Amino acid sequence: MNIIDLIEKKKQKQSLNQEEIEYFVNGYLNGEIEDYQISALLMAIYFVGMDIDETTYLTKAMVDSGEILDLSSLGDYVIDKHSSGGVGDKITMMFMPIVASLGDFKVAKLSGRGLGHTGGTIDKFESIPGFNVNLTDDKFLNQLRKINIALSSQTKTLAPADGKIYALRDVTATVNIIPLIASSIVSKKIASGANYIVLDVKFGVGAFIQSKKDATILAKTMVEIGKRLNKKIIACITDMNMPLGHAIGNSLELIEAIEFLKGNMPNDLKEITYSLISTIILKTGKFKTQTDVINAIDESIKSGKVLDIFKTMINAQNGDCNVLSNYSLFGTTKNQYIIKSNQNGFIRNIDALKIAKACKFLGAGRVRKDDKIDLNVGIYLNKHYGDKVNKNEPIATIYYNNEKNFLEALQNVNEAFEYSSKMPPTRTLLYKIIE
Ligand code: URA
Repeated sequence: MNIIDLIEKKKQKQSLNQEEIEYFVNGYLNGEIEDYQISALLMAIYFVGMDIDETTYLTKAMVDSGEILDLSSLGDYVIDKHSSGGVGDKITMMFMPIVASLGDFKVAKLSGRGLGHTGGTIDKFESIPGFNVNLTDDKFLNQLRKINIALSSQTKTLAPADGKIYALRDVTATVNIIPLIASSIVSKKIASGANYIVLDVKFGVGAFIQSKKDATILAKTMVEIGKRLNKKIIACITDMNMPLGHAIGNSLELIEAIEFLKGNMPNDLKEITYSLISTIILKTGKFKTQTDVINAIDESIKSGKVLDIFKTMINAQNGDCNVLSNYSLFGTTKNQYIIKSNQNGFIRNIDALKIAKACKFLGAGRVRKDDKIDLNVGIYLNKHYGDKVNKNEPIATIYYNNEKNFLEALQNVNEAFEYSSKMPPTRTLLYKIIE
């Protein structure tokens, strides 16, 4: 077999078989095939596409390229959750302790640092002083055995072929193609070892997929790969046109998540968190109806059980659990700037992309994998969708440390807000469930 023939075959719009896909994945990982050849192949795939057989072979080859975490000793209900990425998306931080509080479930979350306007889940947890995000496999497993919940940074040993191919896609303009995105996400999830996986696939201006149609194709592709590789994968397709909740920025989001666990729940966060949880829990068959799951979540939050589990997890990972009652332990920024409304009316839109750009200007996210991010900067939306607002009332607060780029951030936040004279209609964020 040779790589030039495979590039030619794809260029001629033919499908690659399993052996051919394994050949290029393994050949690239072990250095026998060059970057420029895989770049050409990726570009051919970009224009020609891949069918579901090819996409599944690619996923399997990337899973098999590294370690597969064996969580089978933890029982039948090990749950994982993944989001395709959004603005103010702190759902994982609520999802984990809530699911762990519901009975026989274990929540095993391995997460990458990722690029973006704010950090990923790992960065957000790192804003807790002392919190260890680098658990060994043994510690990860033991913690799950003992307290049903663990979070750790994903090591390079899981699906390493995806790591290498993704880095190349990033610099060859071949990220944005559904079969490659689907196989990349699902390979990491399968290698992470959970047997129930819920995917939050986002669409809208704040997501990397804009249209409902493409998000639906991506979701269907990932669920189908799961079926073919014997994993229970469900996808919820959700709206990412406006930021989720009020806080955007690493420690700000963690504080909002803690408040949620104490029962202070903005409607949008509640809808998505409850939907994702009830969807995956119903799939396990341990609860009969959605109402049963919702009642159990409400009860767990009300009784303080969820917050206790969150505290136990922070303790187990060496974090300072006093943050749960004393938010000043997160530290804060040197400066805060309050933006006021320039009119009376109702908030009818907050553009998630503009808020994301503002956060990037503040230094909340990273452009390269090894960039350092500022965990305390960010934006708090004092007003959200549908809120009534009077002229000169605060609509948003910018937390920042550096004057450099502050004006660009301010301009983006100002432009993000749109007003109307009438109360806008109620929004529904969950668009579809694919299973
Ligand atoms: N996230 C991933 O892990 N892979 C992709 O290809 C895109 C987003």
